[in-house]
Amino acid sequence: MSSKVEQQLEDLREKLRYHSYQYYVLDDPHIPDAEYDRLYKKLLALEEKYPALVTTDSPSQRVGSKPLTAFGQIQHQMPMLSLDNVFNEEDLYAFNQRVQDRLQSEEEIEFTAEPKLDGLAISLRYEKGQLIYAATRGDGTTGENVTQNIRTLQSVPLKLLGDNYPDVLEVRGEVFMPKKGFEDLNRVARSKGEKEFANPRNAAAGSLRQLDPAITARRPLSLYCYSTGIVEGGELADTHYEILQQLKQFGFPVCEEIKRITGVEACLAYYEDISSRRDRLPYDIDGIVYKVDAVALQKRLGFVARAPRWAIAHKFPAQEEMSSIIDIDFQVGRTGAITPVARLEPVFVGGVTVSNATLHNMDEIRRKDVRVGDKVIVRRAGDVIPEVVRVVPGSRKKTLPEIQMLTHCPVCGSSVEQIEGEAVARCTGGLFCQAQRAEAIKHFASRKAMDIDGLGDKLIEQLVAEKLIATPADLYQLEMDSLVALDRMAEKSASNLLLALENSKHPSLARFIYALGIREVGEATAINLANEFKRWPAVRDADYEQLIEVQDIGPIVAQHIVHFFQQQHNLDVIDQLLLPPTGIRIEDVEQSESDADNHCAFTGKTVVITGTLPTMSRGEAKEKLLAVGAKVTGSVSAKTDYLLAGDKAGSKLSKAEKLGVRVIDEATMLELLSVPV
Ligand code: IVH
Repeated sequence: MSSKVEQQLEDLREKLRYHSYQYYVLDDPHIPDAEYDRLYKKLLALEEKYPALVTTDSPSQRVGSKPLTAFGQIQHQMPMLSLDNVFNEEDLYAFNQRVQDRLQSEEEIEFTAEPKLDGLAISLRYEKGQLIYAATRGDGTTGENVTQNIRTLQSVPLKLLGDNYPDVLEVRGEVFMPKKGFEDLNRVARSKGEKEFANPRNAAAGSLRQLDPAITARRPLSLYCYSTGIVEGGELADTHYEILQQLKQFGFPVCEEIKRITGVEACLAYYEDISSRRDRLPYDIDGIVYKVDAVALQKRLGFVARAPRWAIAHKFPAQEEMSSIIDIDFQVGRTGAITPVARLEPVFVGGVTVSNATLHNMDEIRRKDVRVGDKVIVRRAGDVIPEVVRVVPGSRKKTLPEIQMLTHCPVCGSSVEQIEGEAVARCTGGLFCQAQRAEAIKHFASRKAMDIDGLGDKLIEQLVAEKLIATPADLYQLEMDSLVALDRMAEKSASNLLLALENSKHPSLARFIYALGIREVGEATAINLANEFKRWPAVRDADYEQLIEVQDIGPIVAQHIVHFFQQQHNLDVIDQLLLPPTGIRIEDVEQSESDADNHCAFTGKTVVITGTLPTMSRGEAKEKLLAVGAKVTGSVSAKTDYLLAGDKAGSKLSKAEKLGVRVIDEATMLELLSVPV
C-alpha cells in the first residue's frame, strides 16, 4: 500500500520538478500556472495524509526550516576563486598574449564569453543528485551555510534531473536580483516608509543573509551557474561551454547570453554587443568574463594567487562614483520645467568625466536630503543623464542649509509655479522665457494654431539661434533681407514665408488662444473658451471663477490661464501681436457667427467620429463640431447622440447600430451644421 502511495508521490514530484525547470530555468512553461498549482496542491494534500513519506527534495520543502539564530560555516573543499580584471582593450590583448605565450601557441584561443553578473557567488553541493548544502563564497576558503535560504529559490534544483550526473557535484554560480524585482521591492519599501536598498546587488545580499528563510522566499532572487567545484564519481565534458550545457541538463539555470568565441577580436565584439544591450538586460552586470574553453588548456595554465590564469573579467567602467556637491543650480527646460542640477567636483563615471548631475525636482532633493557641500554618489548608466543617487551616509560633518526652490525663473525672472500634486515646478514666462522660446514659437506657428505655412521647426530653431526672433511677435517683423541671408533660404521660399505670415493674421479666436501655448490649454479647451467668452478681451480678462464655469475647465487649467495672463511679459508679446505694425485681427465668435447661427442640431450633443471622411480629416470635423458646442468623445456608448462615420468605420459603427445611435456621414454633418435651430 505504502509503496503505491510512494510511487504516486514520486511521480507528482517528478512532474512538478520538470515543469518548474521548464518555467524557471528554460523560461518555456509547458503547462498553465493553474495546472501547476493543481499538481502542487495534490502533492501537499497527499503529503499531509502521509507525513512520514515527505522527502527533503520534495518541491513542497523549499521553505521548510525555522529561522536560524546564526549561519553555520562551511569549508570549501575546493577554494572559490576570484578573477583578475582588465578595464581596456590593451590589457585584454596583454591577457590573450600571456595565455598564448604560456601555451606556446600562435593559434587563436577559443573562449567562452559570459556576462559578469553583479550579485554574490554561491557554491551548491549535490551528492547523488540531492542538494546537500549551499554556501557563500566568504573569504574563498570558508563561507556561510545558507542552504535553507537557497532552497527557497525556485530555480535551484533540490534534486537533479536525469541520472547521468556525477555522484558528487559542486556547482558555482551567482545569486542576483533581477532589476524588475528590485524595483518592485523598493517600491513596496517606499510605500511603507521603510528603507530602500541601494542597488540590486545589496538587495540580493541582504535577502540571502536573512535568518528567517520565509523572508528570503518572498524576495525575487535568481541564480545563474557559471562553473563547477569538486566533481567525483562521474565525468563532465572537456570544454567549459559544454559543461555549462550539461549543467543546464541537470536542471541548473545558465545565462542565455553565454557564447563560445574564437580570438581576442571576437571577445571585443562580444563586449561591445553586450555593452550596447546592457541597459535592456533584465539583470545588472558589471563586465564580461572570458574563459579559456578547453579544460585541458585550463589545467596547463593553472592559477596565480587566488585567480585562474585562464580567465579574465573585462569590467565596464563603474556606473557609480563618489563626488561632492559644489553648488546647486536650477535649469529651465524647453517646456518651462525647472530642474535642480548639482555642480560636482569632476568625477570619472560610466566612462566619462561628469561635473553636472540632475537632482530631478524638489521632492527628490527633499527625499534624498541633498545639500551643497555634501559628499554624494553619482550615477551615470548608459546614455542616461547622470544623477545624484544619494548622500554618502554619515559624511555630513556640519549642518548645511536646506535647498530652497526658486520663486523666480533664473532665465527670464517670471514667477515659478508649482501645481499641487505635481512634482515639477515651472517657469510661467511662456512666450517670453528664452529657455522656452523656440518651443513656444513652434507651437504658435503649428498647423492647428496660427498655421504658418513654410515655417518648420528647423527654420524656427535657426531664427532663434541667429537672434532674428525671440517671441512669436518677432515673426511678423521678419524681412526679406535677413531671411535670404540664412543658410539654405532661397528668395522664393523667403517670400512664400512672408506671404504665409501675412495670411495668418486673421485667426479665429479659438486658434489664437490655442496658439498662445498656455499650459494644458489644448485645441478643445481653446474652442470652449472661445465659445464661452466670444471676444478676445473677455478671454484675457476672465477671472478664476468665470473660468472654472467653462465646460471641461477644472481648477488646474483655470489656474494656468489666470497665471498666464498675470505675466506682464505675456501681455507685452500679445500687445505686439495685436497692435500695429503687426495688427493681428482675431475673428471673434460673434463676428463669424451670430449666437443664433451658432446653435444647430449638434449643440450640446455628444458626437463620436470614426473612419475616413471624404473631404476633411477627423480633426477638422471635430473642430467644426466643437465650434457649435458639441462634445466630441472617443467611444460609443448609450450617451452618444451621433456617430459621424466615414470609410472603413469598424467596431464603433456596429456598436452604434446595436445601441440605436444615429449614424451620419460627412455630408449630413455639414448640412446639419448649416441649419440653425
Ligand atoms: S567565474 C574561477 N563567471 O565574479 C572562476 N564569476 O571576481 C571563478 N562572477 O566571485 C569565477 N559572473 O561572484 C565567474 N560568469 C561569471 C561570473 C562570475 C559573476 C563573480 C563571482 C566571482 C567574481 C570574481
